[in-house]
Amino acid sequence: MNILIVDDDANARKTLGDILKANGFEVEEAATGSEGVRSCEAKFFNLVLIDVRLPDISGLEVLQAVRALHDEESVLIMITSYASLDSSLEAMNKGAFSYFTKPINIDAALVVITKGLEKQRLSLDNKRLFKELAEANKKLEELDKRKSYFVSNVSHEIKNPLTVIRESMKLLLDNLVGKVNPEQKEILEMGKRSTERLIRLASDLLDLQKIEAGMMDLRKEKIAMDALVWEVIQNFEIELFKKRLNFQKEIQANSGFLFGDRDKLTQVFINLLSNAIKYTPEGGNIVVKLEGNEKEIRFEIVDSGQGIPEGQREMIFNKYTRLMTEKQEGTGLGLPIVKEIVELHKGRVWVESEPGKGSRFIFTMPRDCRAEVPRLEQPRAVVPSVGS
Ligand SMILES: Nc1ncnc2c1ncn2[C@@H]1O[C@H](COP(=O)(O)OP(=O)(O)O)[C@@H](O)[C@H]1O
Ligand SMILES: [Mg+2]
Repeated sequence: MNILIVDDDANARKTLGDILKANGFEVEEAATGSEGVRSCEAKFFNLVLIDVRLPDISGLEVLQAVRALHDEESVLIMITSYASLDSSLEAMNKGAFSYFTKPINIDAALVVITKGLEKQRLSLDNKRLFKELAEANKKLEELDKRKSYFVSNVSHEIKNPLTVIRESMKLLLDNLVGKVNPEQKEILEMGKRSTERLIRLASDLLDLQKIEAGMMDLRKEKIAMDALVWEVIQNFEIELFKKRLNFQKEIQANSGFLFGDRDKLTQVFINLLSNAIKYTPEGGNIVVKLEGNEKEIRFEIVDSGQGIPEGQREMIFNKYTRLMTEKQEGTGLGLPIVKEIVELHKGRVWVESEPGKGSRFIFTMPRDCRAEVPRLEQPRAVVPSVGS
C-alpha cells in the first residue's frame, strides 16, 4: 500500500511519513499541490493525504485533479487546521474520504486510514468481480448464439429427410406402388404418425429460433376464420374419437374475416387444440368457441382436464416450461409459439383455469393488425354449423 503526502510543511511531512512507514506503508512526499498532482499522474496511490492550504494551488484543486485521474479511486484524506475546516467539509462533499485536523492524532488517523483502505479494497474487489461477471456473461451469450444456430441447423437437417420418409409412406399408403394389405397399412400409418410428430417437433424448434432471432414474420392475407378453425378440427377428429372426448363447437356463423398469416394461425389452433386433447382425460369435454364483433375475433377453447395451478398460468407461455407434475410427453414449445404468433397479430392470449376442473385458453385478435384499418367486406354469412 502506498501513500502520498502533499504538504508544504517539511516537518509535518517527515513526522507523518515516518509513522506511516513504521506501520508498513510505502510513503512518498510532495511539497506543492502541482507536484502532488504530477506524482499522482505518474502512478496510482492507494491513499493521498492533502493539506488544504498549499502554496500554489489549493488542496481542493488537488483533490479534484486526482479524482479525475484514475479509474481506480485513491482514498483522499484532507489535512486541515481549524481555520480551514470549511474547505475540508467542502472536500468531503467533493469525494474526500475524511479529514484530519492538525495536530494530527496519530492513533485515530491510523484507524481512519485503515478503514479507507479497506473500503477501497472492497470497491476494487467489487469492480473486478463485476468485470469478470460481464466477461462471463458475454461468453455465455456467444455460446447461446452458437447453440441456437446449431439447433436451427440440426432441426433443418432433420426435417428434410423426415419429410421424404413421410412422403414415401404416403405413396405406399395411397397404393400408388402396389396394394398394401390392412396389416401393412396399420404399420405404415403408425410410422407416418410418428414421422409427423418428429416433423412438428423440428418445425417448432425452427420457429422458436426464429422467434428468438426476431425473424418470425407474417405473410398476411384475408382469412375466413370459421373455415380455418373448421379445417383444424377435422384433422383432430380421429384423436377426439379415440379418447372418447365429448366435443362441442360454438362457432358464430358470421365470425368473419381476419387479415393474418394462414399457416401461423393454423398452428395456433393446432397447438391449443392438441393441448386440450392431450391434457384432458378420456371421456372428458372440450368446447371450441369462435366469435367476432366488428373489431376483433375471440377464440376460446375450454377443456375439462387437469387444469393449471395459479402461479403457473403465466409461466407455461415461456419456452421449455411445462408443469412440474407433467407426465404427458411434450417439449413446452407449443404455447410460446402460440403467444408469439398471437402477439405478432397484435392479439392477446391467456388462460383461465380451475385446477382439477379444467382450463380455458382464450385469445383475441384485431381483425386487421395493419396500422391503418381499411373497410372490411361484409363477413361471409354461410358457415357450416359445426356443432351438428
Ligand atoms: N389444456 C391444458 N390443460 C392443462 N395443462 C396444460 C394445457 N395446455 C398446456 N398445459 C400445460 O402447459 C405446458 C406447456 O404447454 P406447451 O407449451 O403446449 O408444451 P407441451 O404441450 O409440449 O408440454 C404443458 O406441458 C402443460 O403442463
Ligand atoms: Mg403442447
